[in-house]
Amino acid sequence: MNIDDIKTVAVIGAGDMGHGIAEVALLTGTRVNLYDVKDEYVERGRDRIFSSVAKLVEKGRVPAELDQAIRGKLLKTTTDLAEAAADADLVIEAIPEIMSLKQQVFGDLDKAAPAHALLASNTSTMSITEIASATRRPEKVLGLHYFNPAVLMKLVEVIRAEGTSDETMQIGMAYAAKQKKVGVYVKKDAPGFIANRVNQAPAVLVTEIIERGEIEPEALDAFVRRMGAAMGPCELTDYVGIDVMVNVSNYFAEKLGSGYGPAKHLLSMMERGDLGKKTGKGYFDWPEGGRPEIDLSKATRKFNFLWPYMVQINEASKLIQEGVVDTMNEVDLAMINGFGAPIGPVAIGRQISKLDLIDGLEFLAKRYDKEIFLPTNRVRAGGHKF
Ligand SMILES: NC(=O)c1ccc[n+]([C@@H]2O[C@H](COP(=O)([O-])OP(=O)(O)OC[C@H]3O[C@@H](n4cnc5c(N)ncnc54)[C@H](O)[C@@H]3O)[C@@H](O)[C@H]2O)c1
Repeated sequence: MNIDDIKTVAVIGAGDMGHGIAEVALLTGTRVNLYDVKDEYVERGRDRIFSSVAKLVEKGRVPAELDQAIRGKLLKTTTDLAEAAADADLVIEAIPEIMSLKQQVFGDLDKAAPAHALLASNTSTMSITEIASATRRPEKVLGLHYFNPAVLMKLVEVIRAEGTSDETMQIGMAYAAKQKKVGVYVKKDAPGFIANRVNQAPAVLVTEIIERGEIEPEALDAFVRRMGAAMGPCELTDYVGIDVMVNVSNYFAEKLGSGYGPAKHLLSMMERGDLGKKTGKGYFDWPEGGRPEIDLSKATRKFNFLWPYMVQINEASKLIQEGVVDTMNEVDLAMINGFGAPIGPVAIGRQISKLDLIDGLEFLAKRYDKEIFLPTNRVRAGGHKF
């Protein structure tokens, strides 16, 4: 089997990610069967695709004929999982981040999809090997991890589970390339893969600083905004959802150690139901349909802008030590294309001397009582640059 055999893709889940993953496939002229559990969800996903493609036509980036083809014959919607999978060459799952749910759906897909079909998960953090264990075709199961919004973000982490075959990985990489995405080959399905794992380190750092009351959320966000970022870390956490942040942190803590877990104030916010944008209150108050007001004049002077990069570089070096990626460059590729960062942490790391990096990490590990920030052997040897 090769990439030319992928003619029909089934996308399972028509939510934020699923509709985007379906749209990206449709834009290459691939047939898509879009599934969700209720008519209203699948219709909402379809309408989001139609309006997004219409905007691309308006901007002259997509020919009107392709828009017509998508509306006419390329996109099929259904609430019947077996029907969605029946003629699929590739299935991509984008349902909620709950292992038991994903395993149940993969078990059903295994029965419903043709024997040759590849089954992929868009999970942000979870083990593809565990998901594949619900099927009798682990060699055909892989991770295809898109970033939000899938139409704009270029990264697709192509993830190898324990049983994934070379052929499946090659088709996964070719599928990303066909969509003009940047596919990064993830050799092992370690928690959070590359981009989310590397980002967890600064998330822990920032929440520890806030936990100790050293810097107020507004002062931190104002600082980061004044450095040129479109959104500060606290607003971003509100935007993603305090509950999502807590669940992801708990998952990292369970799999990698308690140091990756959520700070106490996040748990309190979750208990109070202050979940961020979706409830109108998180770190900040969110006006209906708008963004919180951040007073940029309140920018802190207590934050060293290199700290988040330092802990990211350290985390990236762990990925090499654990055999998840081959080179540090792949980490930068992932961070730039997954989150739209202008520059990756490794490129920044190349400008920092080994001693400064080691000193900085030891300082942060001690000050915030976090062993996860202690410099790795690779960093100590200067290998973070390669
Ligand atoms: N949102 C992000 O930023 C992001 C980024 C990358 C990956 N992901 C991952 O993508 C997956 C989907 O996330 P999302 O943000 O699109 O979620 P979402 O809640 O927006 O969409 C999930 C959809 O799956 C549907 N669904 C289909 N089958 C289901 C079933 N059997 N049980 C329950 N619901 C079912 C739901 O009805 C819903 O429409 C998750 O694994 C998530 O971790 C999310």
